[in-house]
Amino acid sequence: MKHVDIKMLLTDAERFAGSAVTVCGWIRTARDSKTVSFVELNDGTCLSNLQLVLDKSKDLGLGGANSLAVGTALMAVGTLVWSARNGYEMNVETITILGSCPSDFPLQKKRHSVEFLRTIPHLRVRTRYFEAVFAVRDQLSYAIHDYFHKHGYKYVHTPIITGSDCEGAGEMFRVTTQPWDAGRKDGGAYPDADSYFADDFFGKKAGLTVSCQLEGEMAAMGLGKIYTFGPTFRAEHSNTTRHAAEFWQVEPEVCFAEIDDIIEIAENFIKSIITGVLTNCKEEMAFFDQWVEAGLLNRLNHVVNSEFGRVTYTEAVELLKKSEHEFKYPVEWGCDIQTEHEKYLADEYFKKPVFVVDYPAEIKAFYMKQNADGKTVAATDLLVPGIGEIIGCSERENDLEKLKQAMRKRGMALEEYEEYLDTRKFGSAPHSGFGLGLDRMMMYVTGISNIRDTLLFPRTVGSL
Ligand code: 4AD
Ligand code: MG
Repeated sequence: MKHVDIKMLLTDAERFAGSAVTVCGWIRTARDSKTVSFVELNDGTCLSNLQLVLDKSKDLGLGGANSLAVGTALMAVGTLVWSARNGYEMNVETITILGSCPSDFPLQKKRHSVEFLRTIPHLRVRTRYFEAVFAVRDQLSYAIHDYFHKHGYKYVHTPIITGSDCEGAGEMFRVTTQPWDAGRKDGGAYPDADSYFADDFFGKKAGLTVSCQLEGEMAAMGLGKIYTFGPTFRAEHSNTTRHAAEFWQVEPEVCFAEIDDIIEIAENFIKSIITGVLTNCKEEMAFFDQWVEAGLLNRLNHVVNSEFGRVTYTEAVELLKKSEHEFKYPVEWGCDIQTEHEKYLADEYFKKPVFVVDYPAEIKAFYMKQNADGKTVAATDLLVPGIGEIIGCSERENDLEKLKQAMRKRGMALEEYEEYLDTRKFGSAPHSGFGLGLDRMMMYVTGISNIRDTLLFPRTVGSL
C-alpha cells in the first residue's frame, strides 16, 4: 500500500504541505463537533499522532455508524495543512476502513495501569507507553551494535542450545524431545540419567544457554574482539521485578585485555549507548521523563558526564557493616551481595553507577581469573541506582591448571569442557568480557520499575 509514514510526514511536514498524501494507522481517539470530526491517527512510526480533520458535510466513503471507533485501522487520503492551533493536520478527502474495531476493544480512551496492560501484551503495543518502550529498546539495540561495530568487534552468533552450564548455577532449561513417560525400547525404566539422555535427541543432556560466554571466549581466541547479543535463559525461581526467565544479554569478549581494560570498556560502552538513546529518542525520553520518572533526563545526562564509582568487595562489605541500615541478610566477608546491599551501595552511598571488584572466588563462577591473594577473583559487577546489578564482568582465568583446579573444586565434569579447555592449552592469552542484561538496561534508561514492561512477551516463573 503506497502511503507515507506519519513520522516522515511530521518530520518533513513543510515538504508535504499542500499536496495530496496517503496515511495509514489506527484511531487513538475521535471526537465530533458540529461540522467536523477529529481523529487522532497513530501508525506506530512515532509517538505523535496525526490529526485528521473530517468535514461532515462531505461523503468521505465512511461506512457504518461506528466507523470511527477507537482502535479502527484505516487509510486516509488528504492534504497536509498548517493550523495555528494544532500544528500540521490533514484535511481528509477519502477514508478507507481497513479493519473495524468493536466496542469491546480493551484500550479505550483513558489511562490504563501498566498492571492491566500486562494482561494484554498483544495489544499493549498500541499504547503510547509501549510504543515509547519499544522505540527505546530498538534504539538501545542499535546503539549496542553501533558501539561494537565502530570499535572493531565482530558480531558472532553462538548456539542457543548447549550442553554446558556456563554460570554453573544449575539454572538451565532442558531441551528434549523425549516424551514425559519415556521408557526404554525394551519396555523397562531407565536405570540412570545418562542412559535416559543417551536416547534423547542429541544423545546427551541439552539445555538453553544461560550465557554465550564460553562460546564467545572460544571465538575471541582467534577473532580477537567479539560480541554476542541475543536471548539467554534462566530457570531461576526469582519472582522479582528484575528477573525474567528469557532475557537478552550483550556479551563482548576481548583478547589481550585485563580487568582494568574491560572495566574501562564497559564504562565507555554504557555511556555511549545512553548517549545514543538520548540523541535519537528525544520524544520517547521526554515522555518517560514526564510520566515515568521525574528527572530521568538529568539523571542520565549526569551518568554520561561523570565517572563511575569503584570499590573493592572487601571495602563494600566494610561500608555495609558500618551503615546504619538494617539489612535482612547480615553482611560478612564471603557473603553474596544481595539486592538490598546493592541498593544501599548504588542508591544511597555512591548515588551513581559503581563497579564492585575482586569478589571472593567461592561465590563466583569457575572461569574467573584468580587473584594473587588466593582468595578473590578479578571479577566485577556494575551496580546502578534503582536496579542493582546490570553487568557481570571478569578477566578470565587463562592458566590451564588453575582453571582445571577451579572446575574440579566445583565438581564439574572436565571432559564436557574439552573444547573450552583447549583455548588455554593452545596459545592461551589474557582475555576479559562482560554480560549486560538488555532488559535491565532498559529499566535503567527509561525509569520503568518492572522488567515485564520492557519485554514484548515477558517470560517469568509461573507465567508464559
Ligand atoms: O552476571 P551474569 O550471570 O553474568 C554472566 O552470565 C556472564 N557469563 C557474563 C559474561 O561475562 N559474559 O549475567 C549478566 C547480566 C546481569 O548483570 C544482568 O544484567 C543480566 O545479565 N541478568 C538477568 N536479567 C534479567 N533476568 C535475569 N534472570 C537475569 N540474570 C542475569
Ligand atoms: Mg551476576
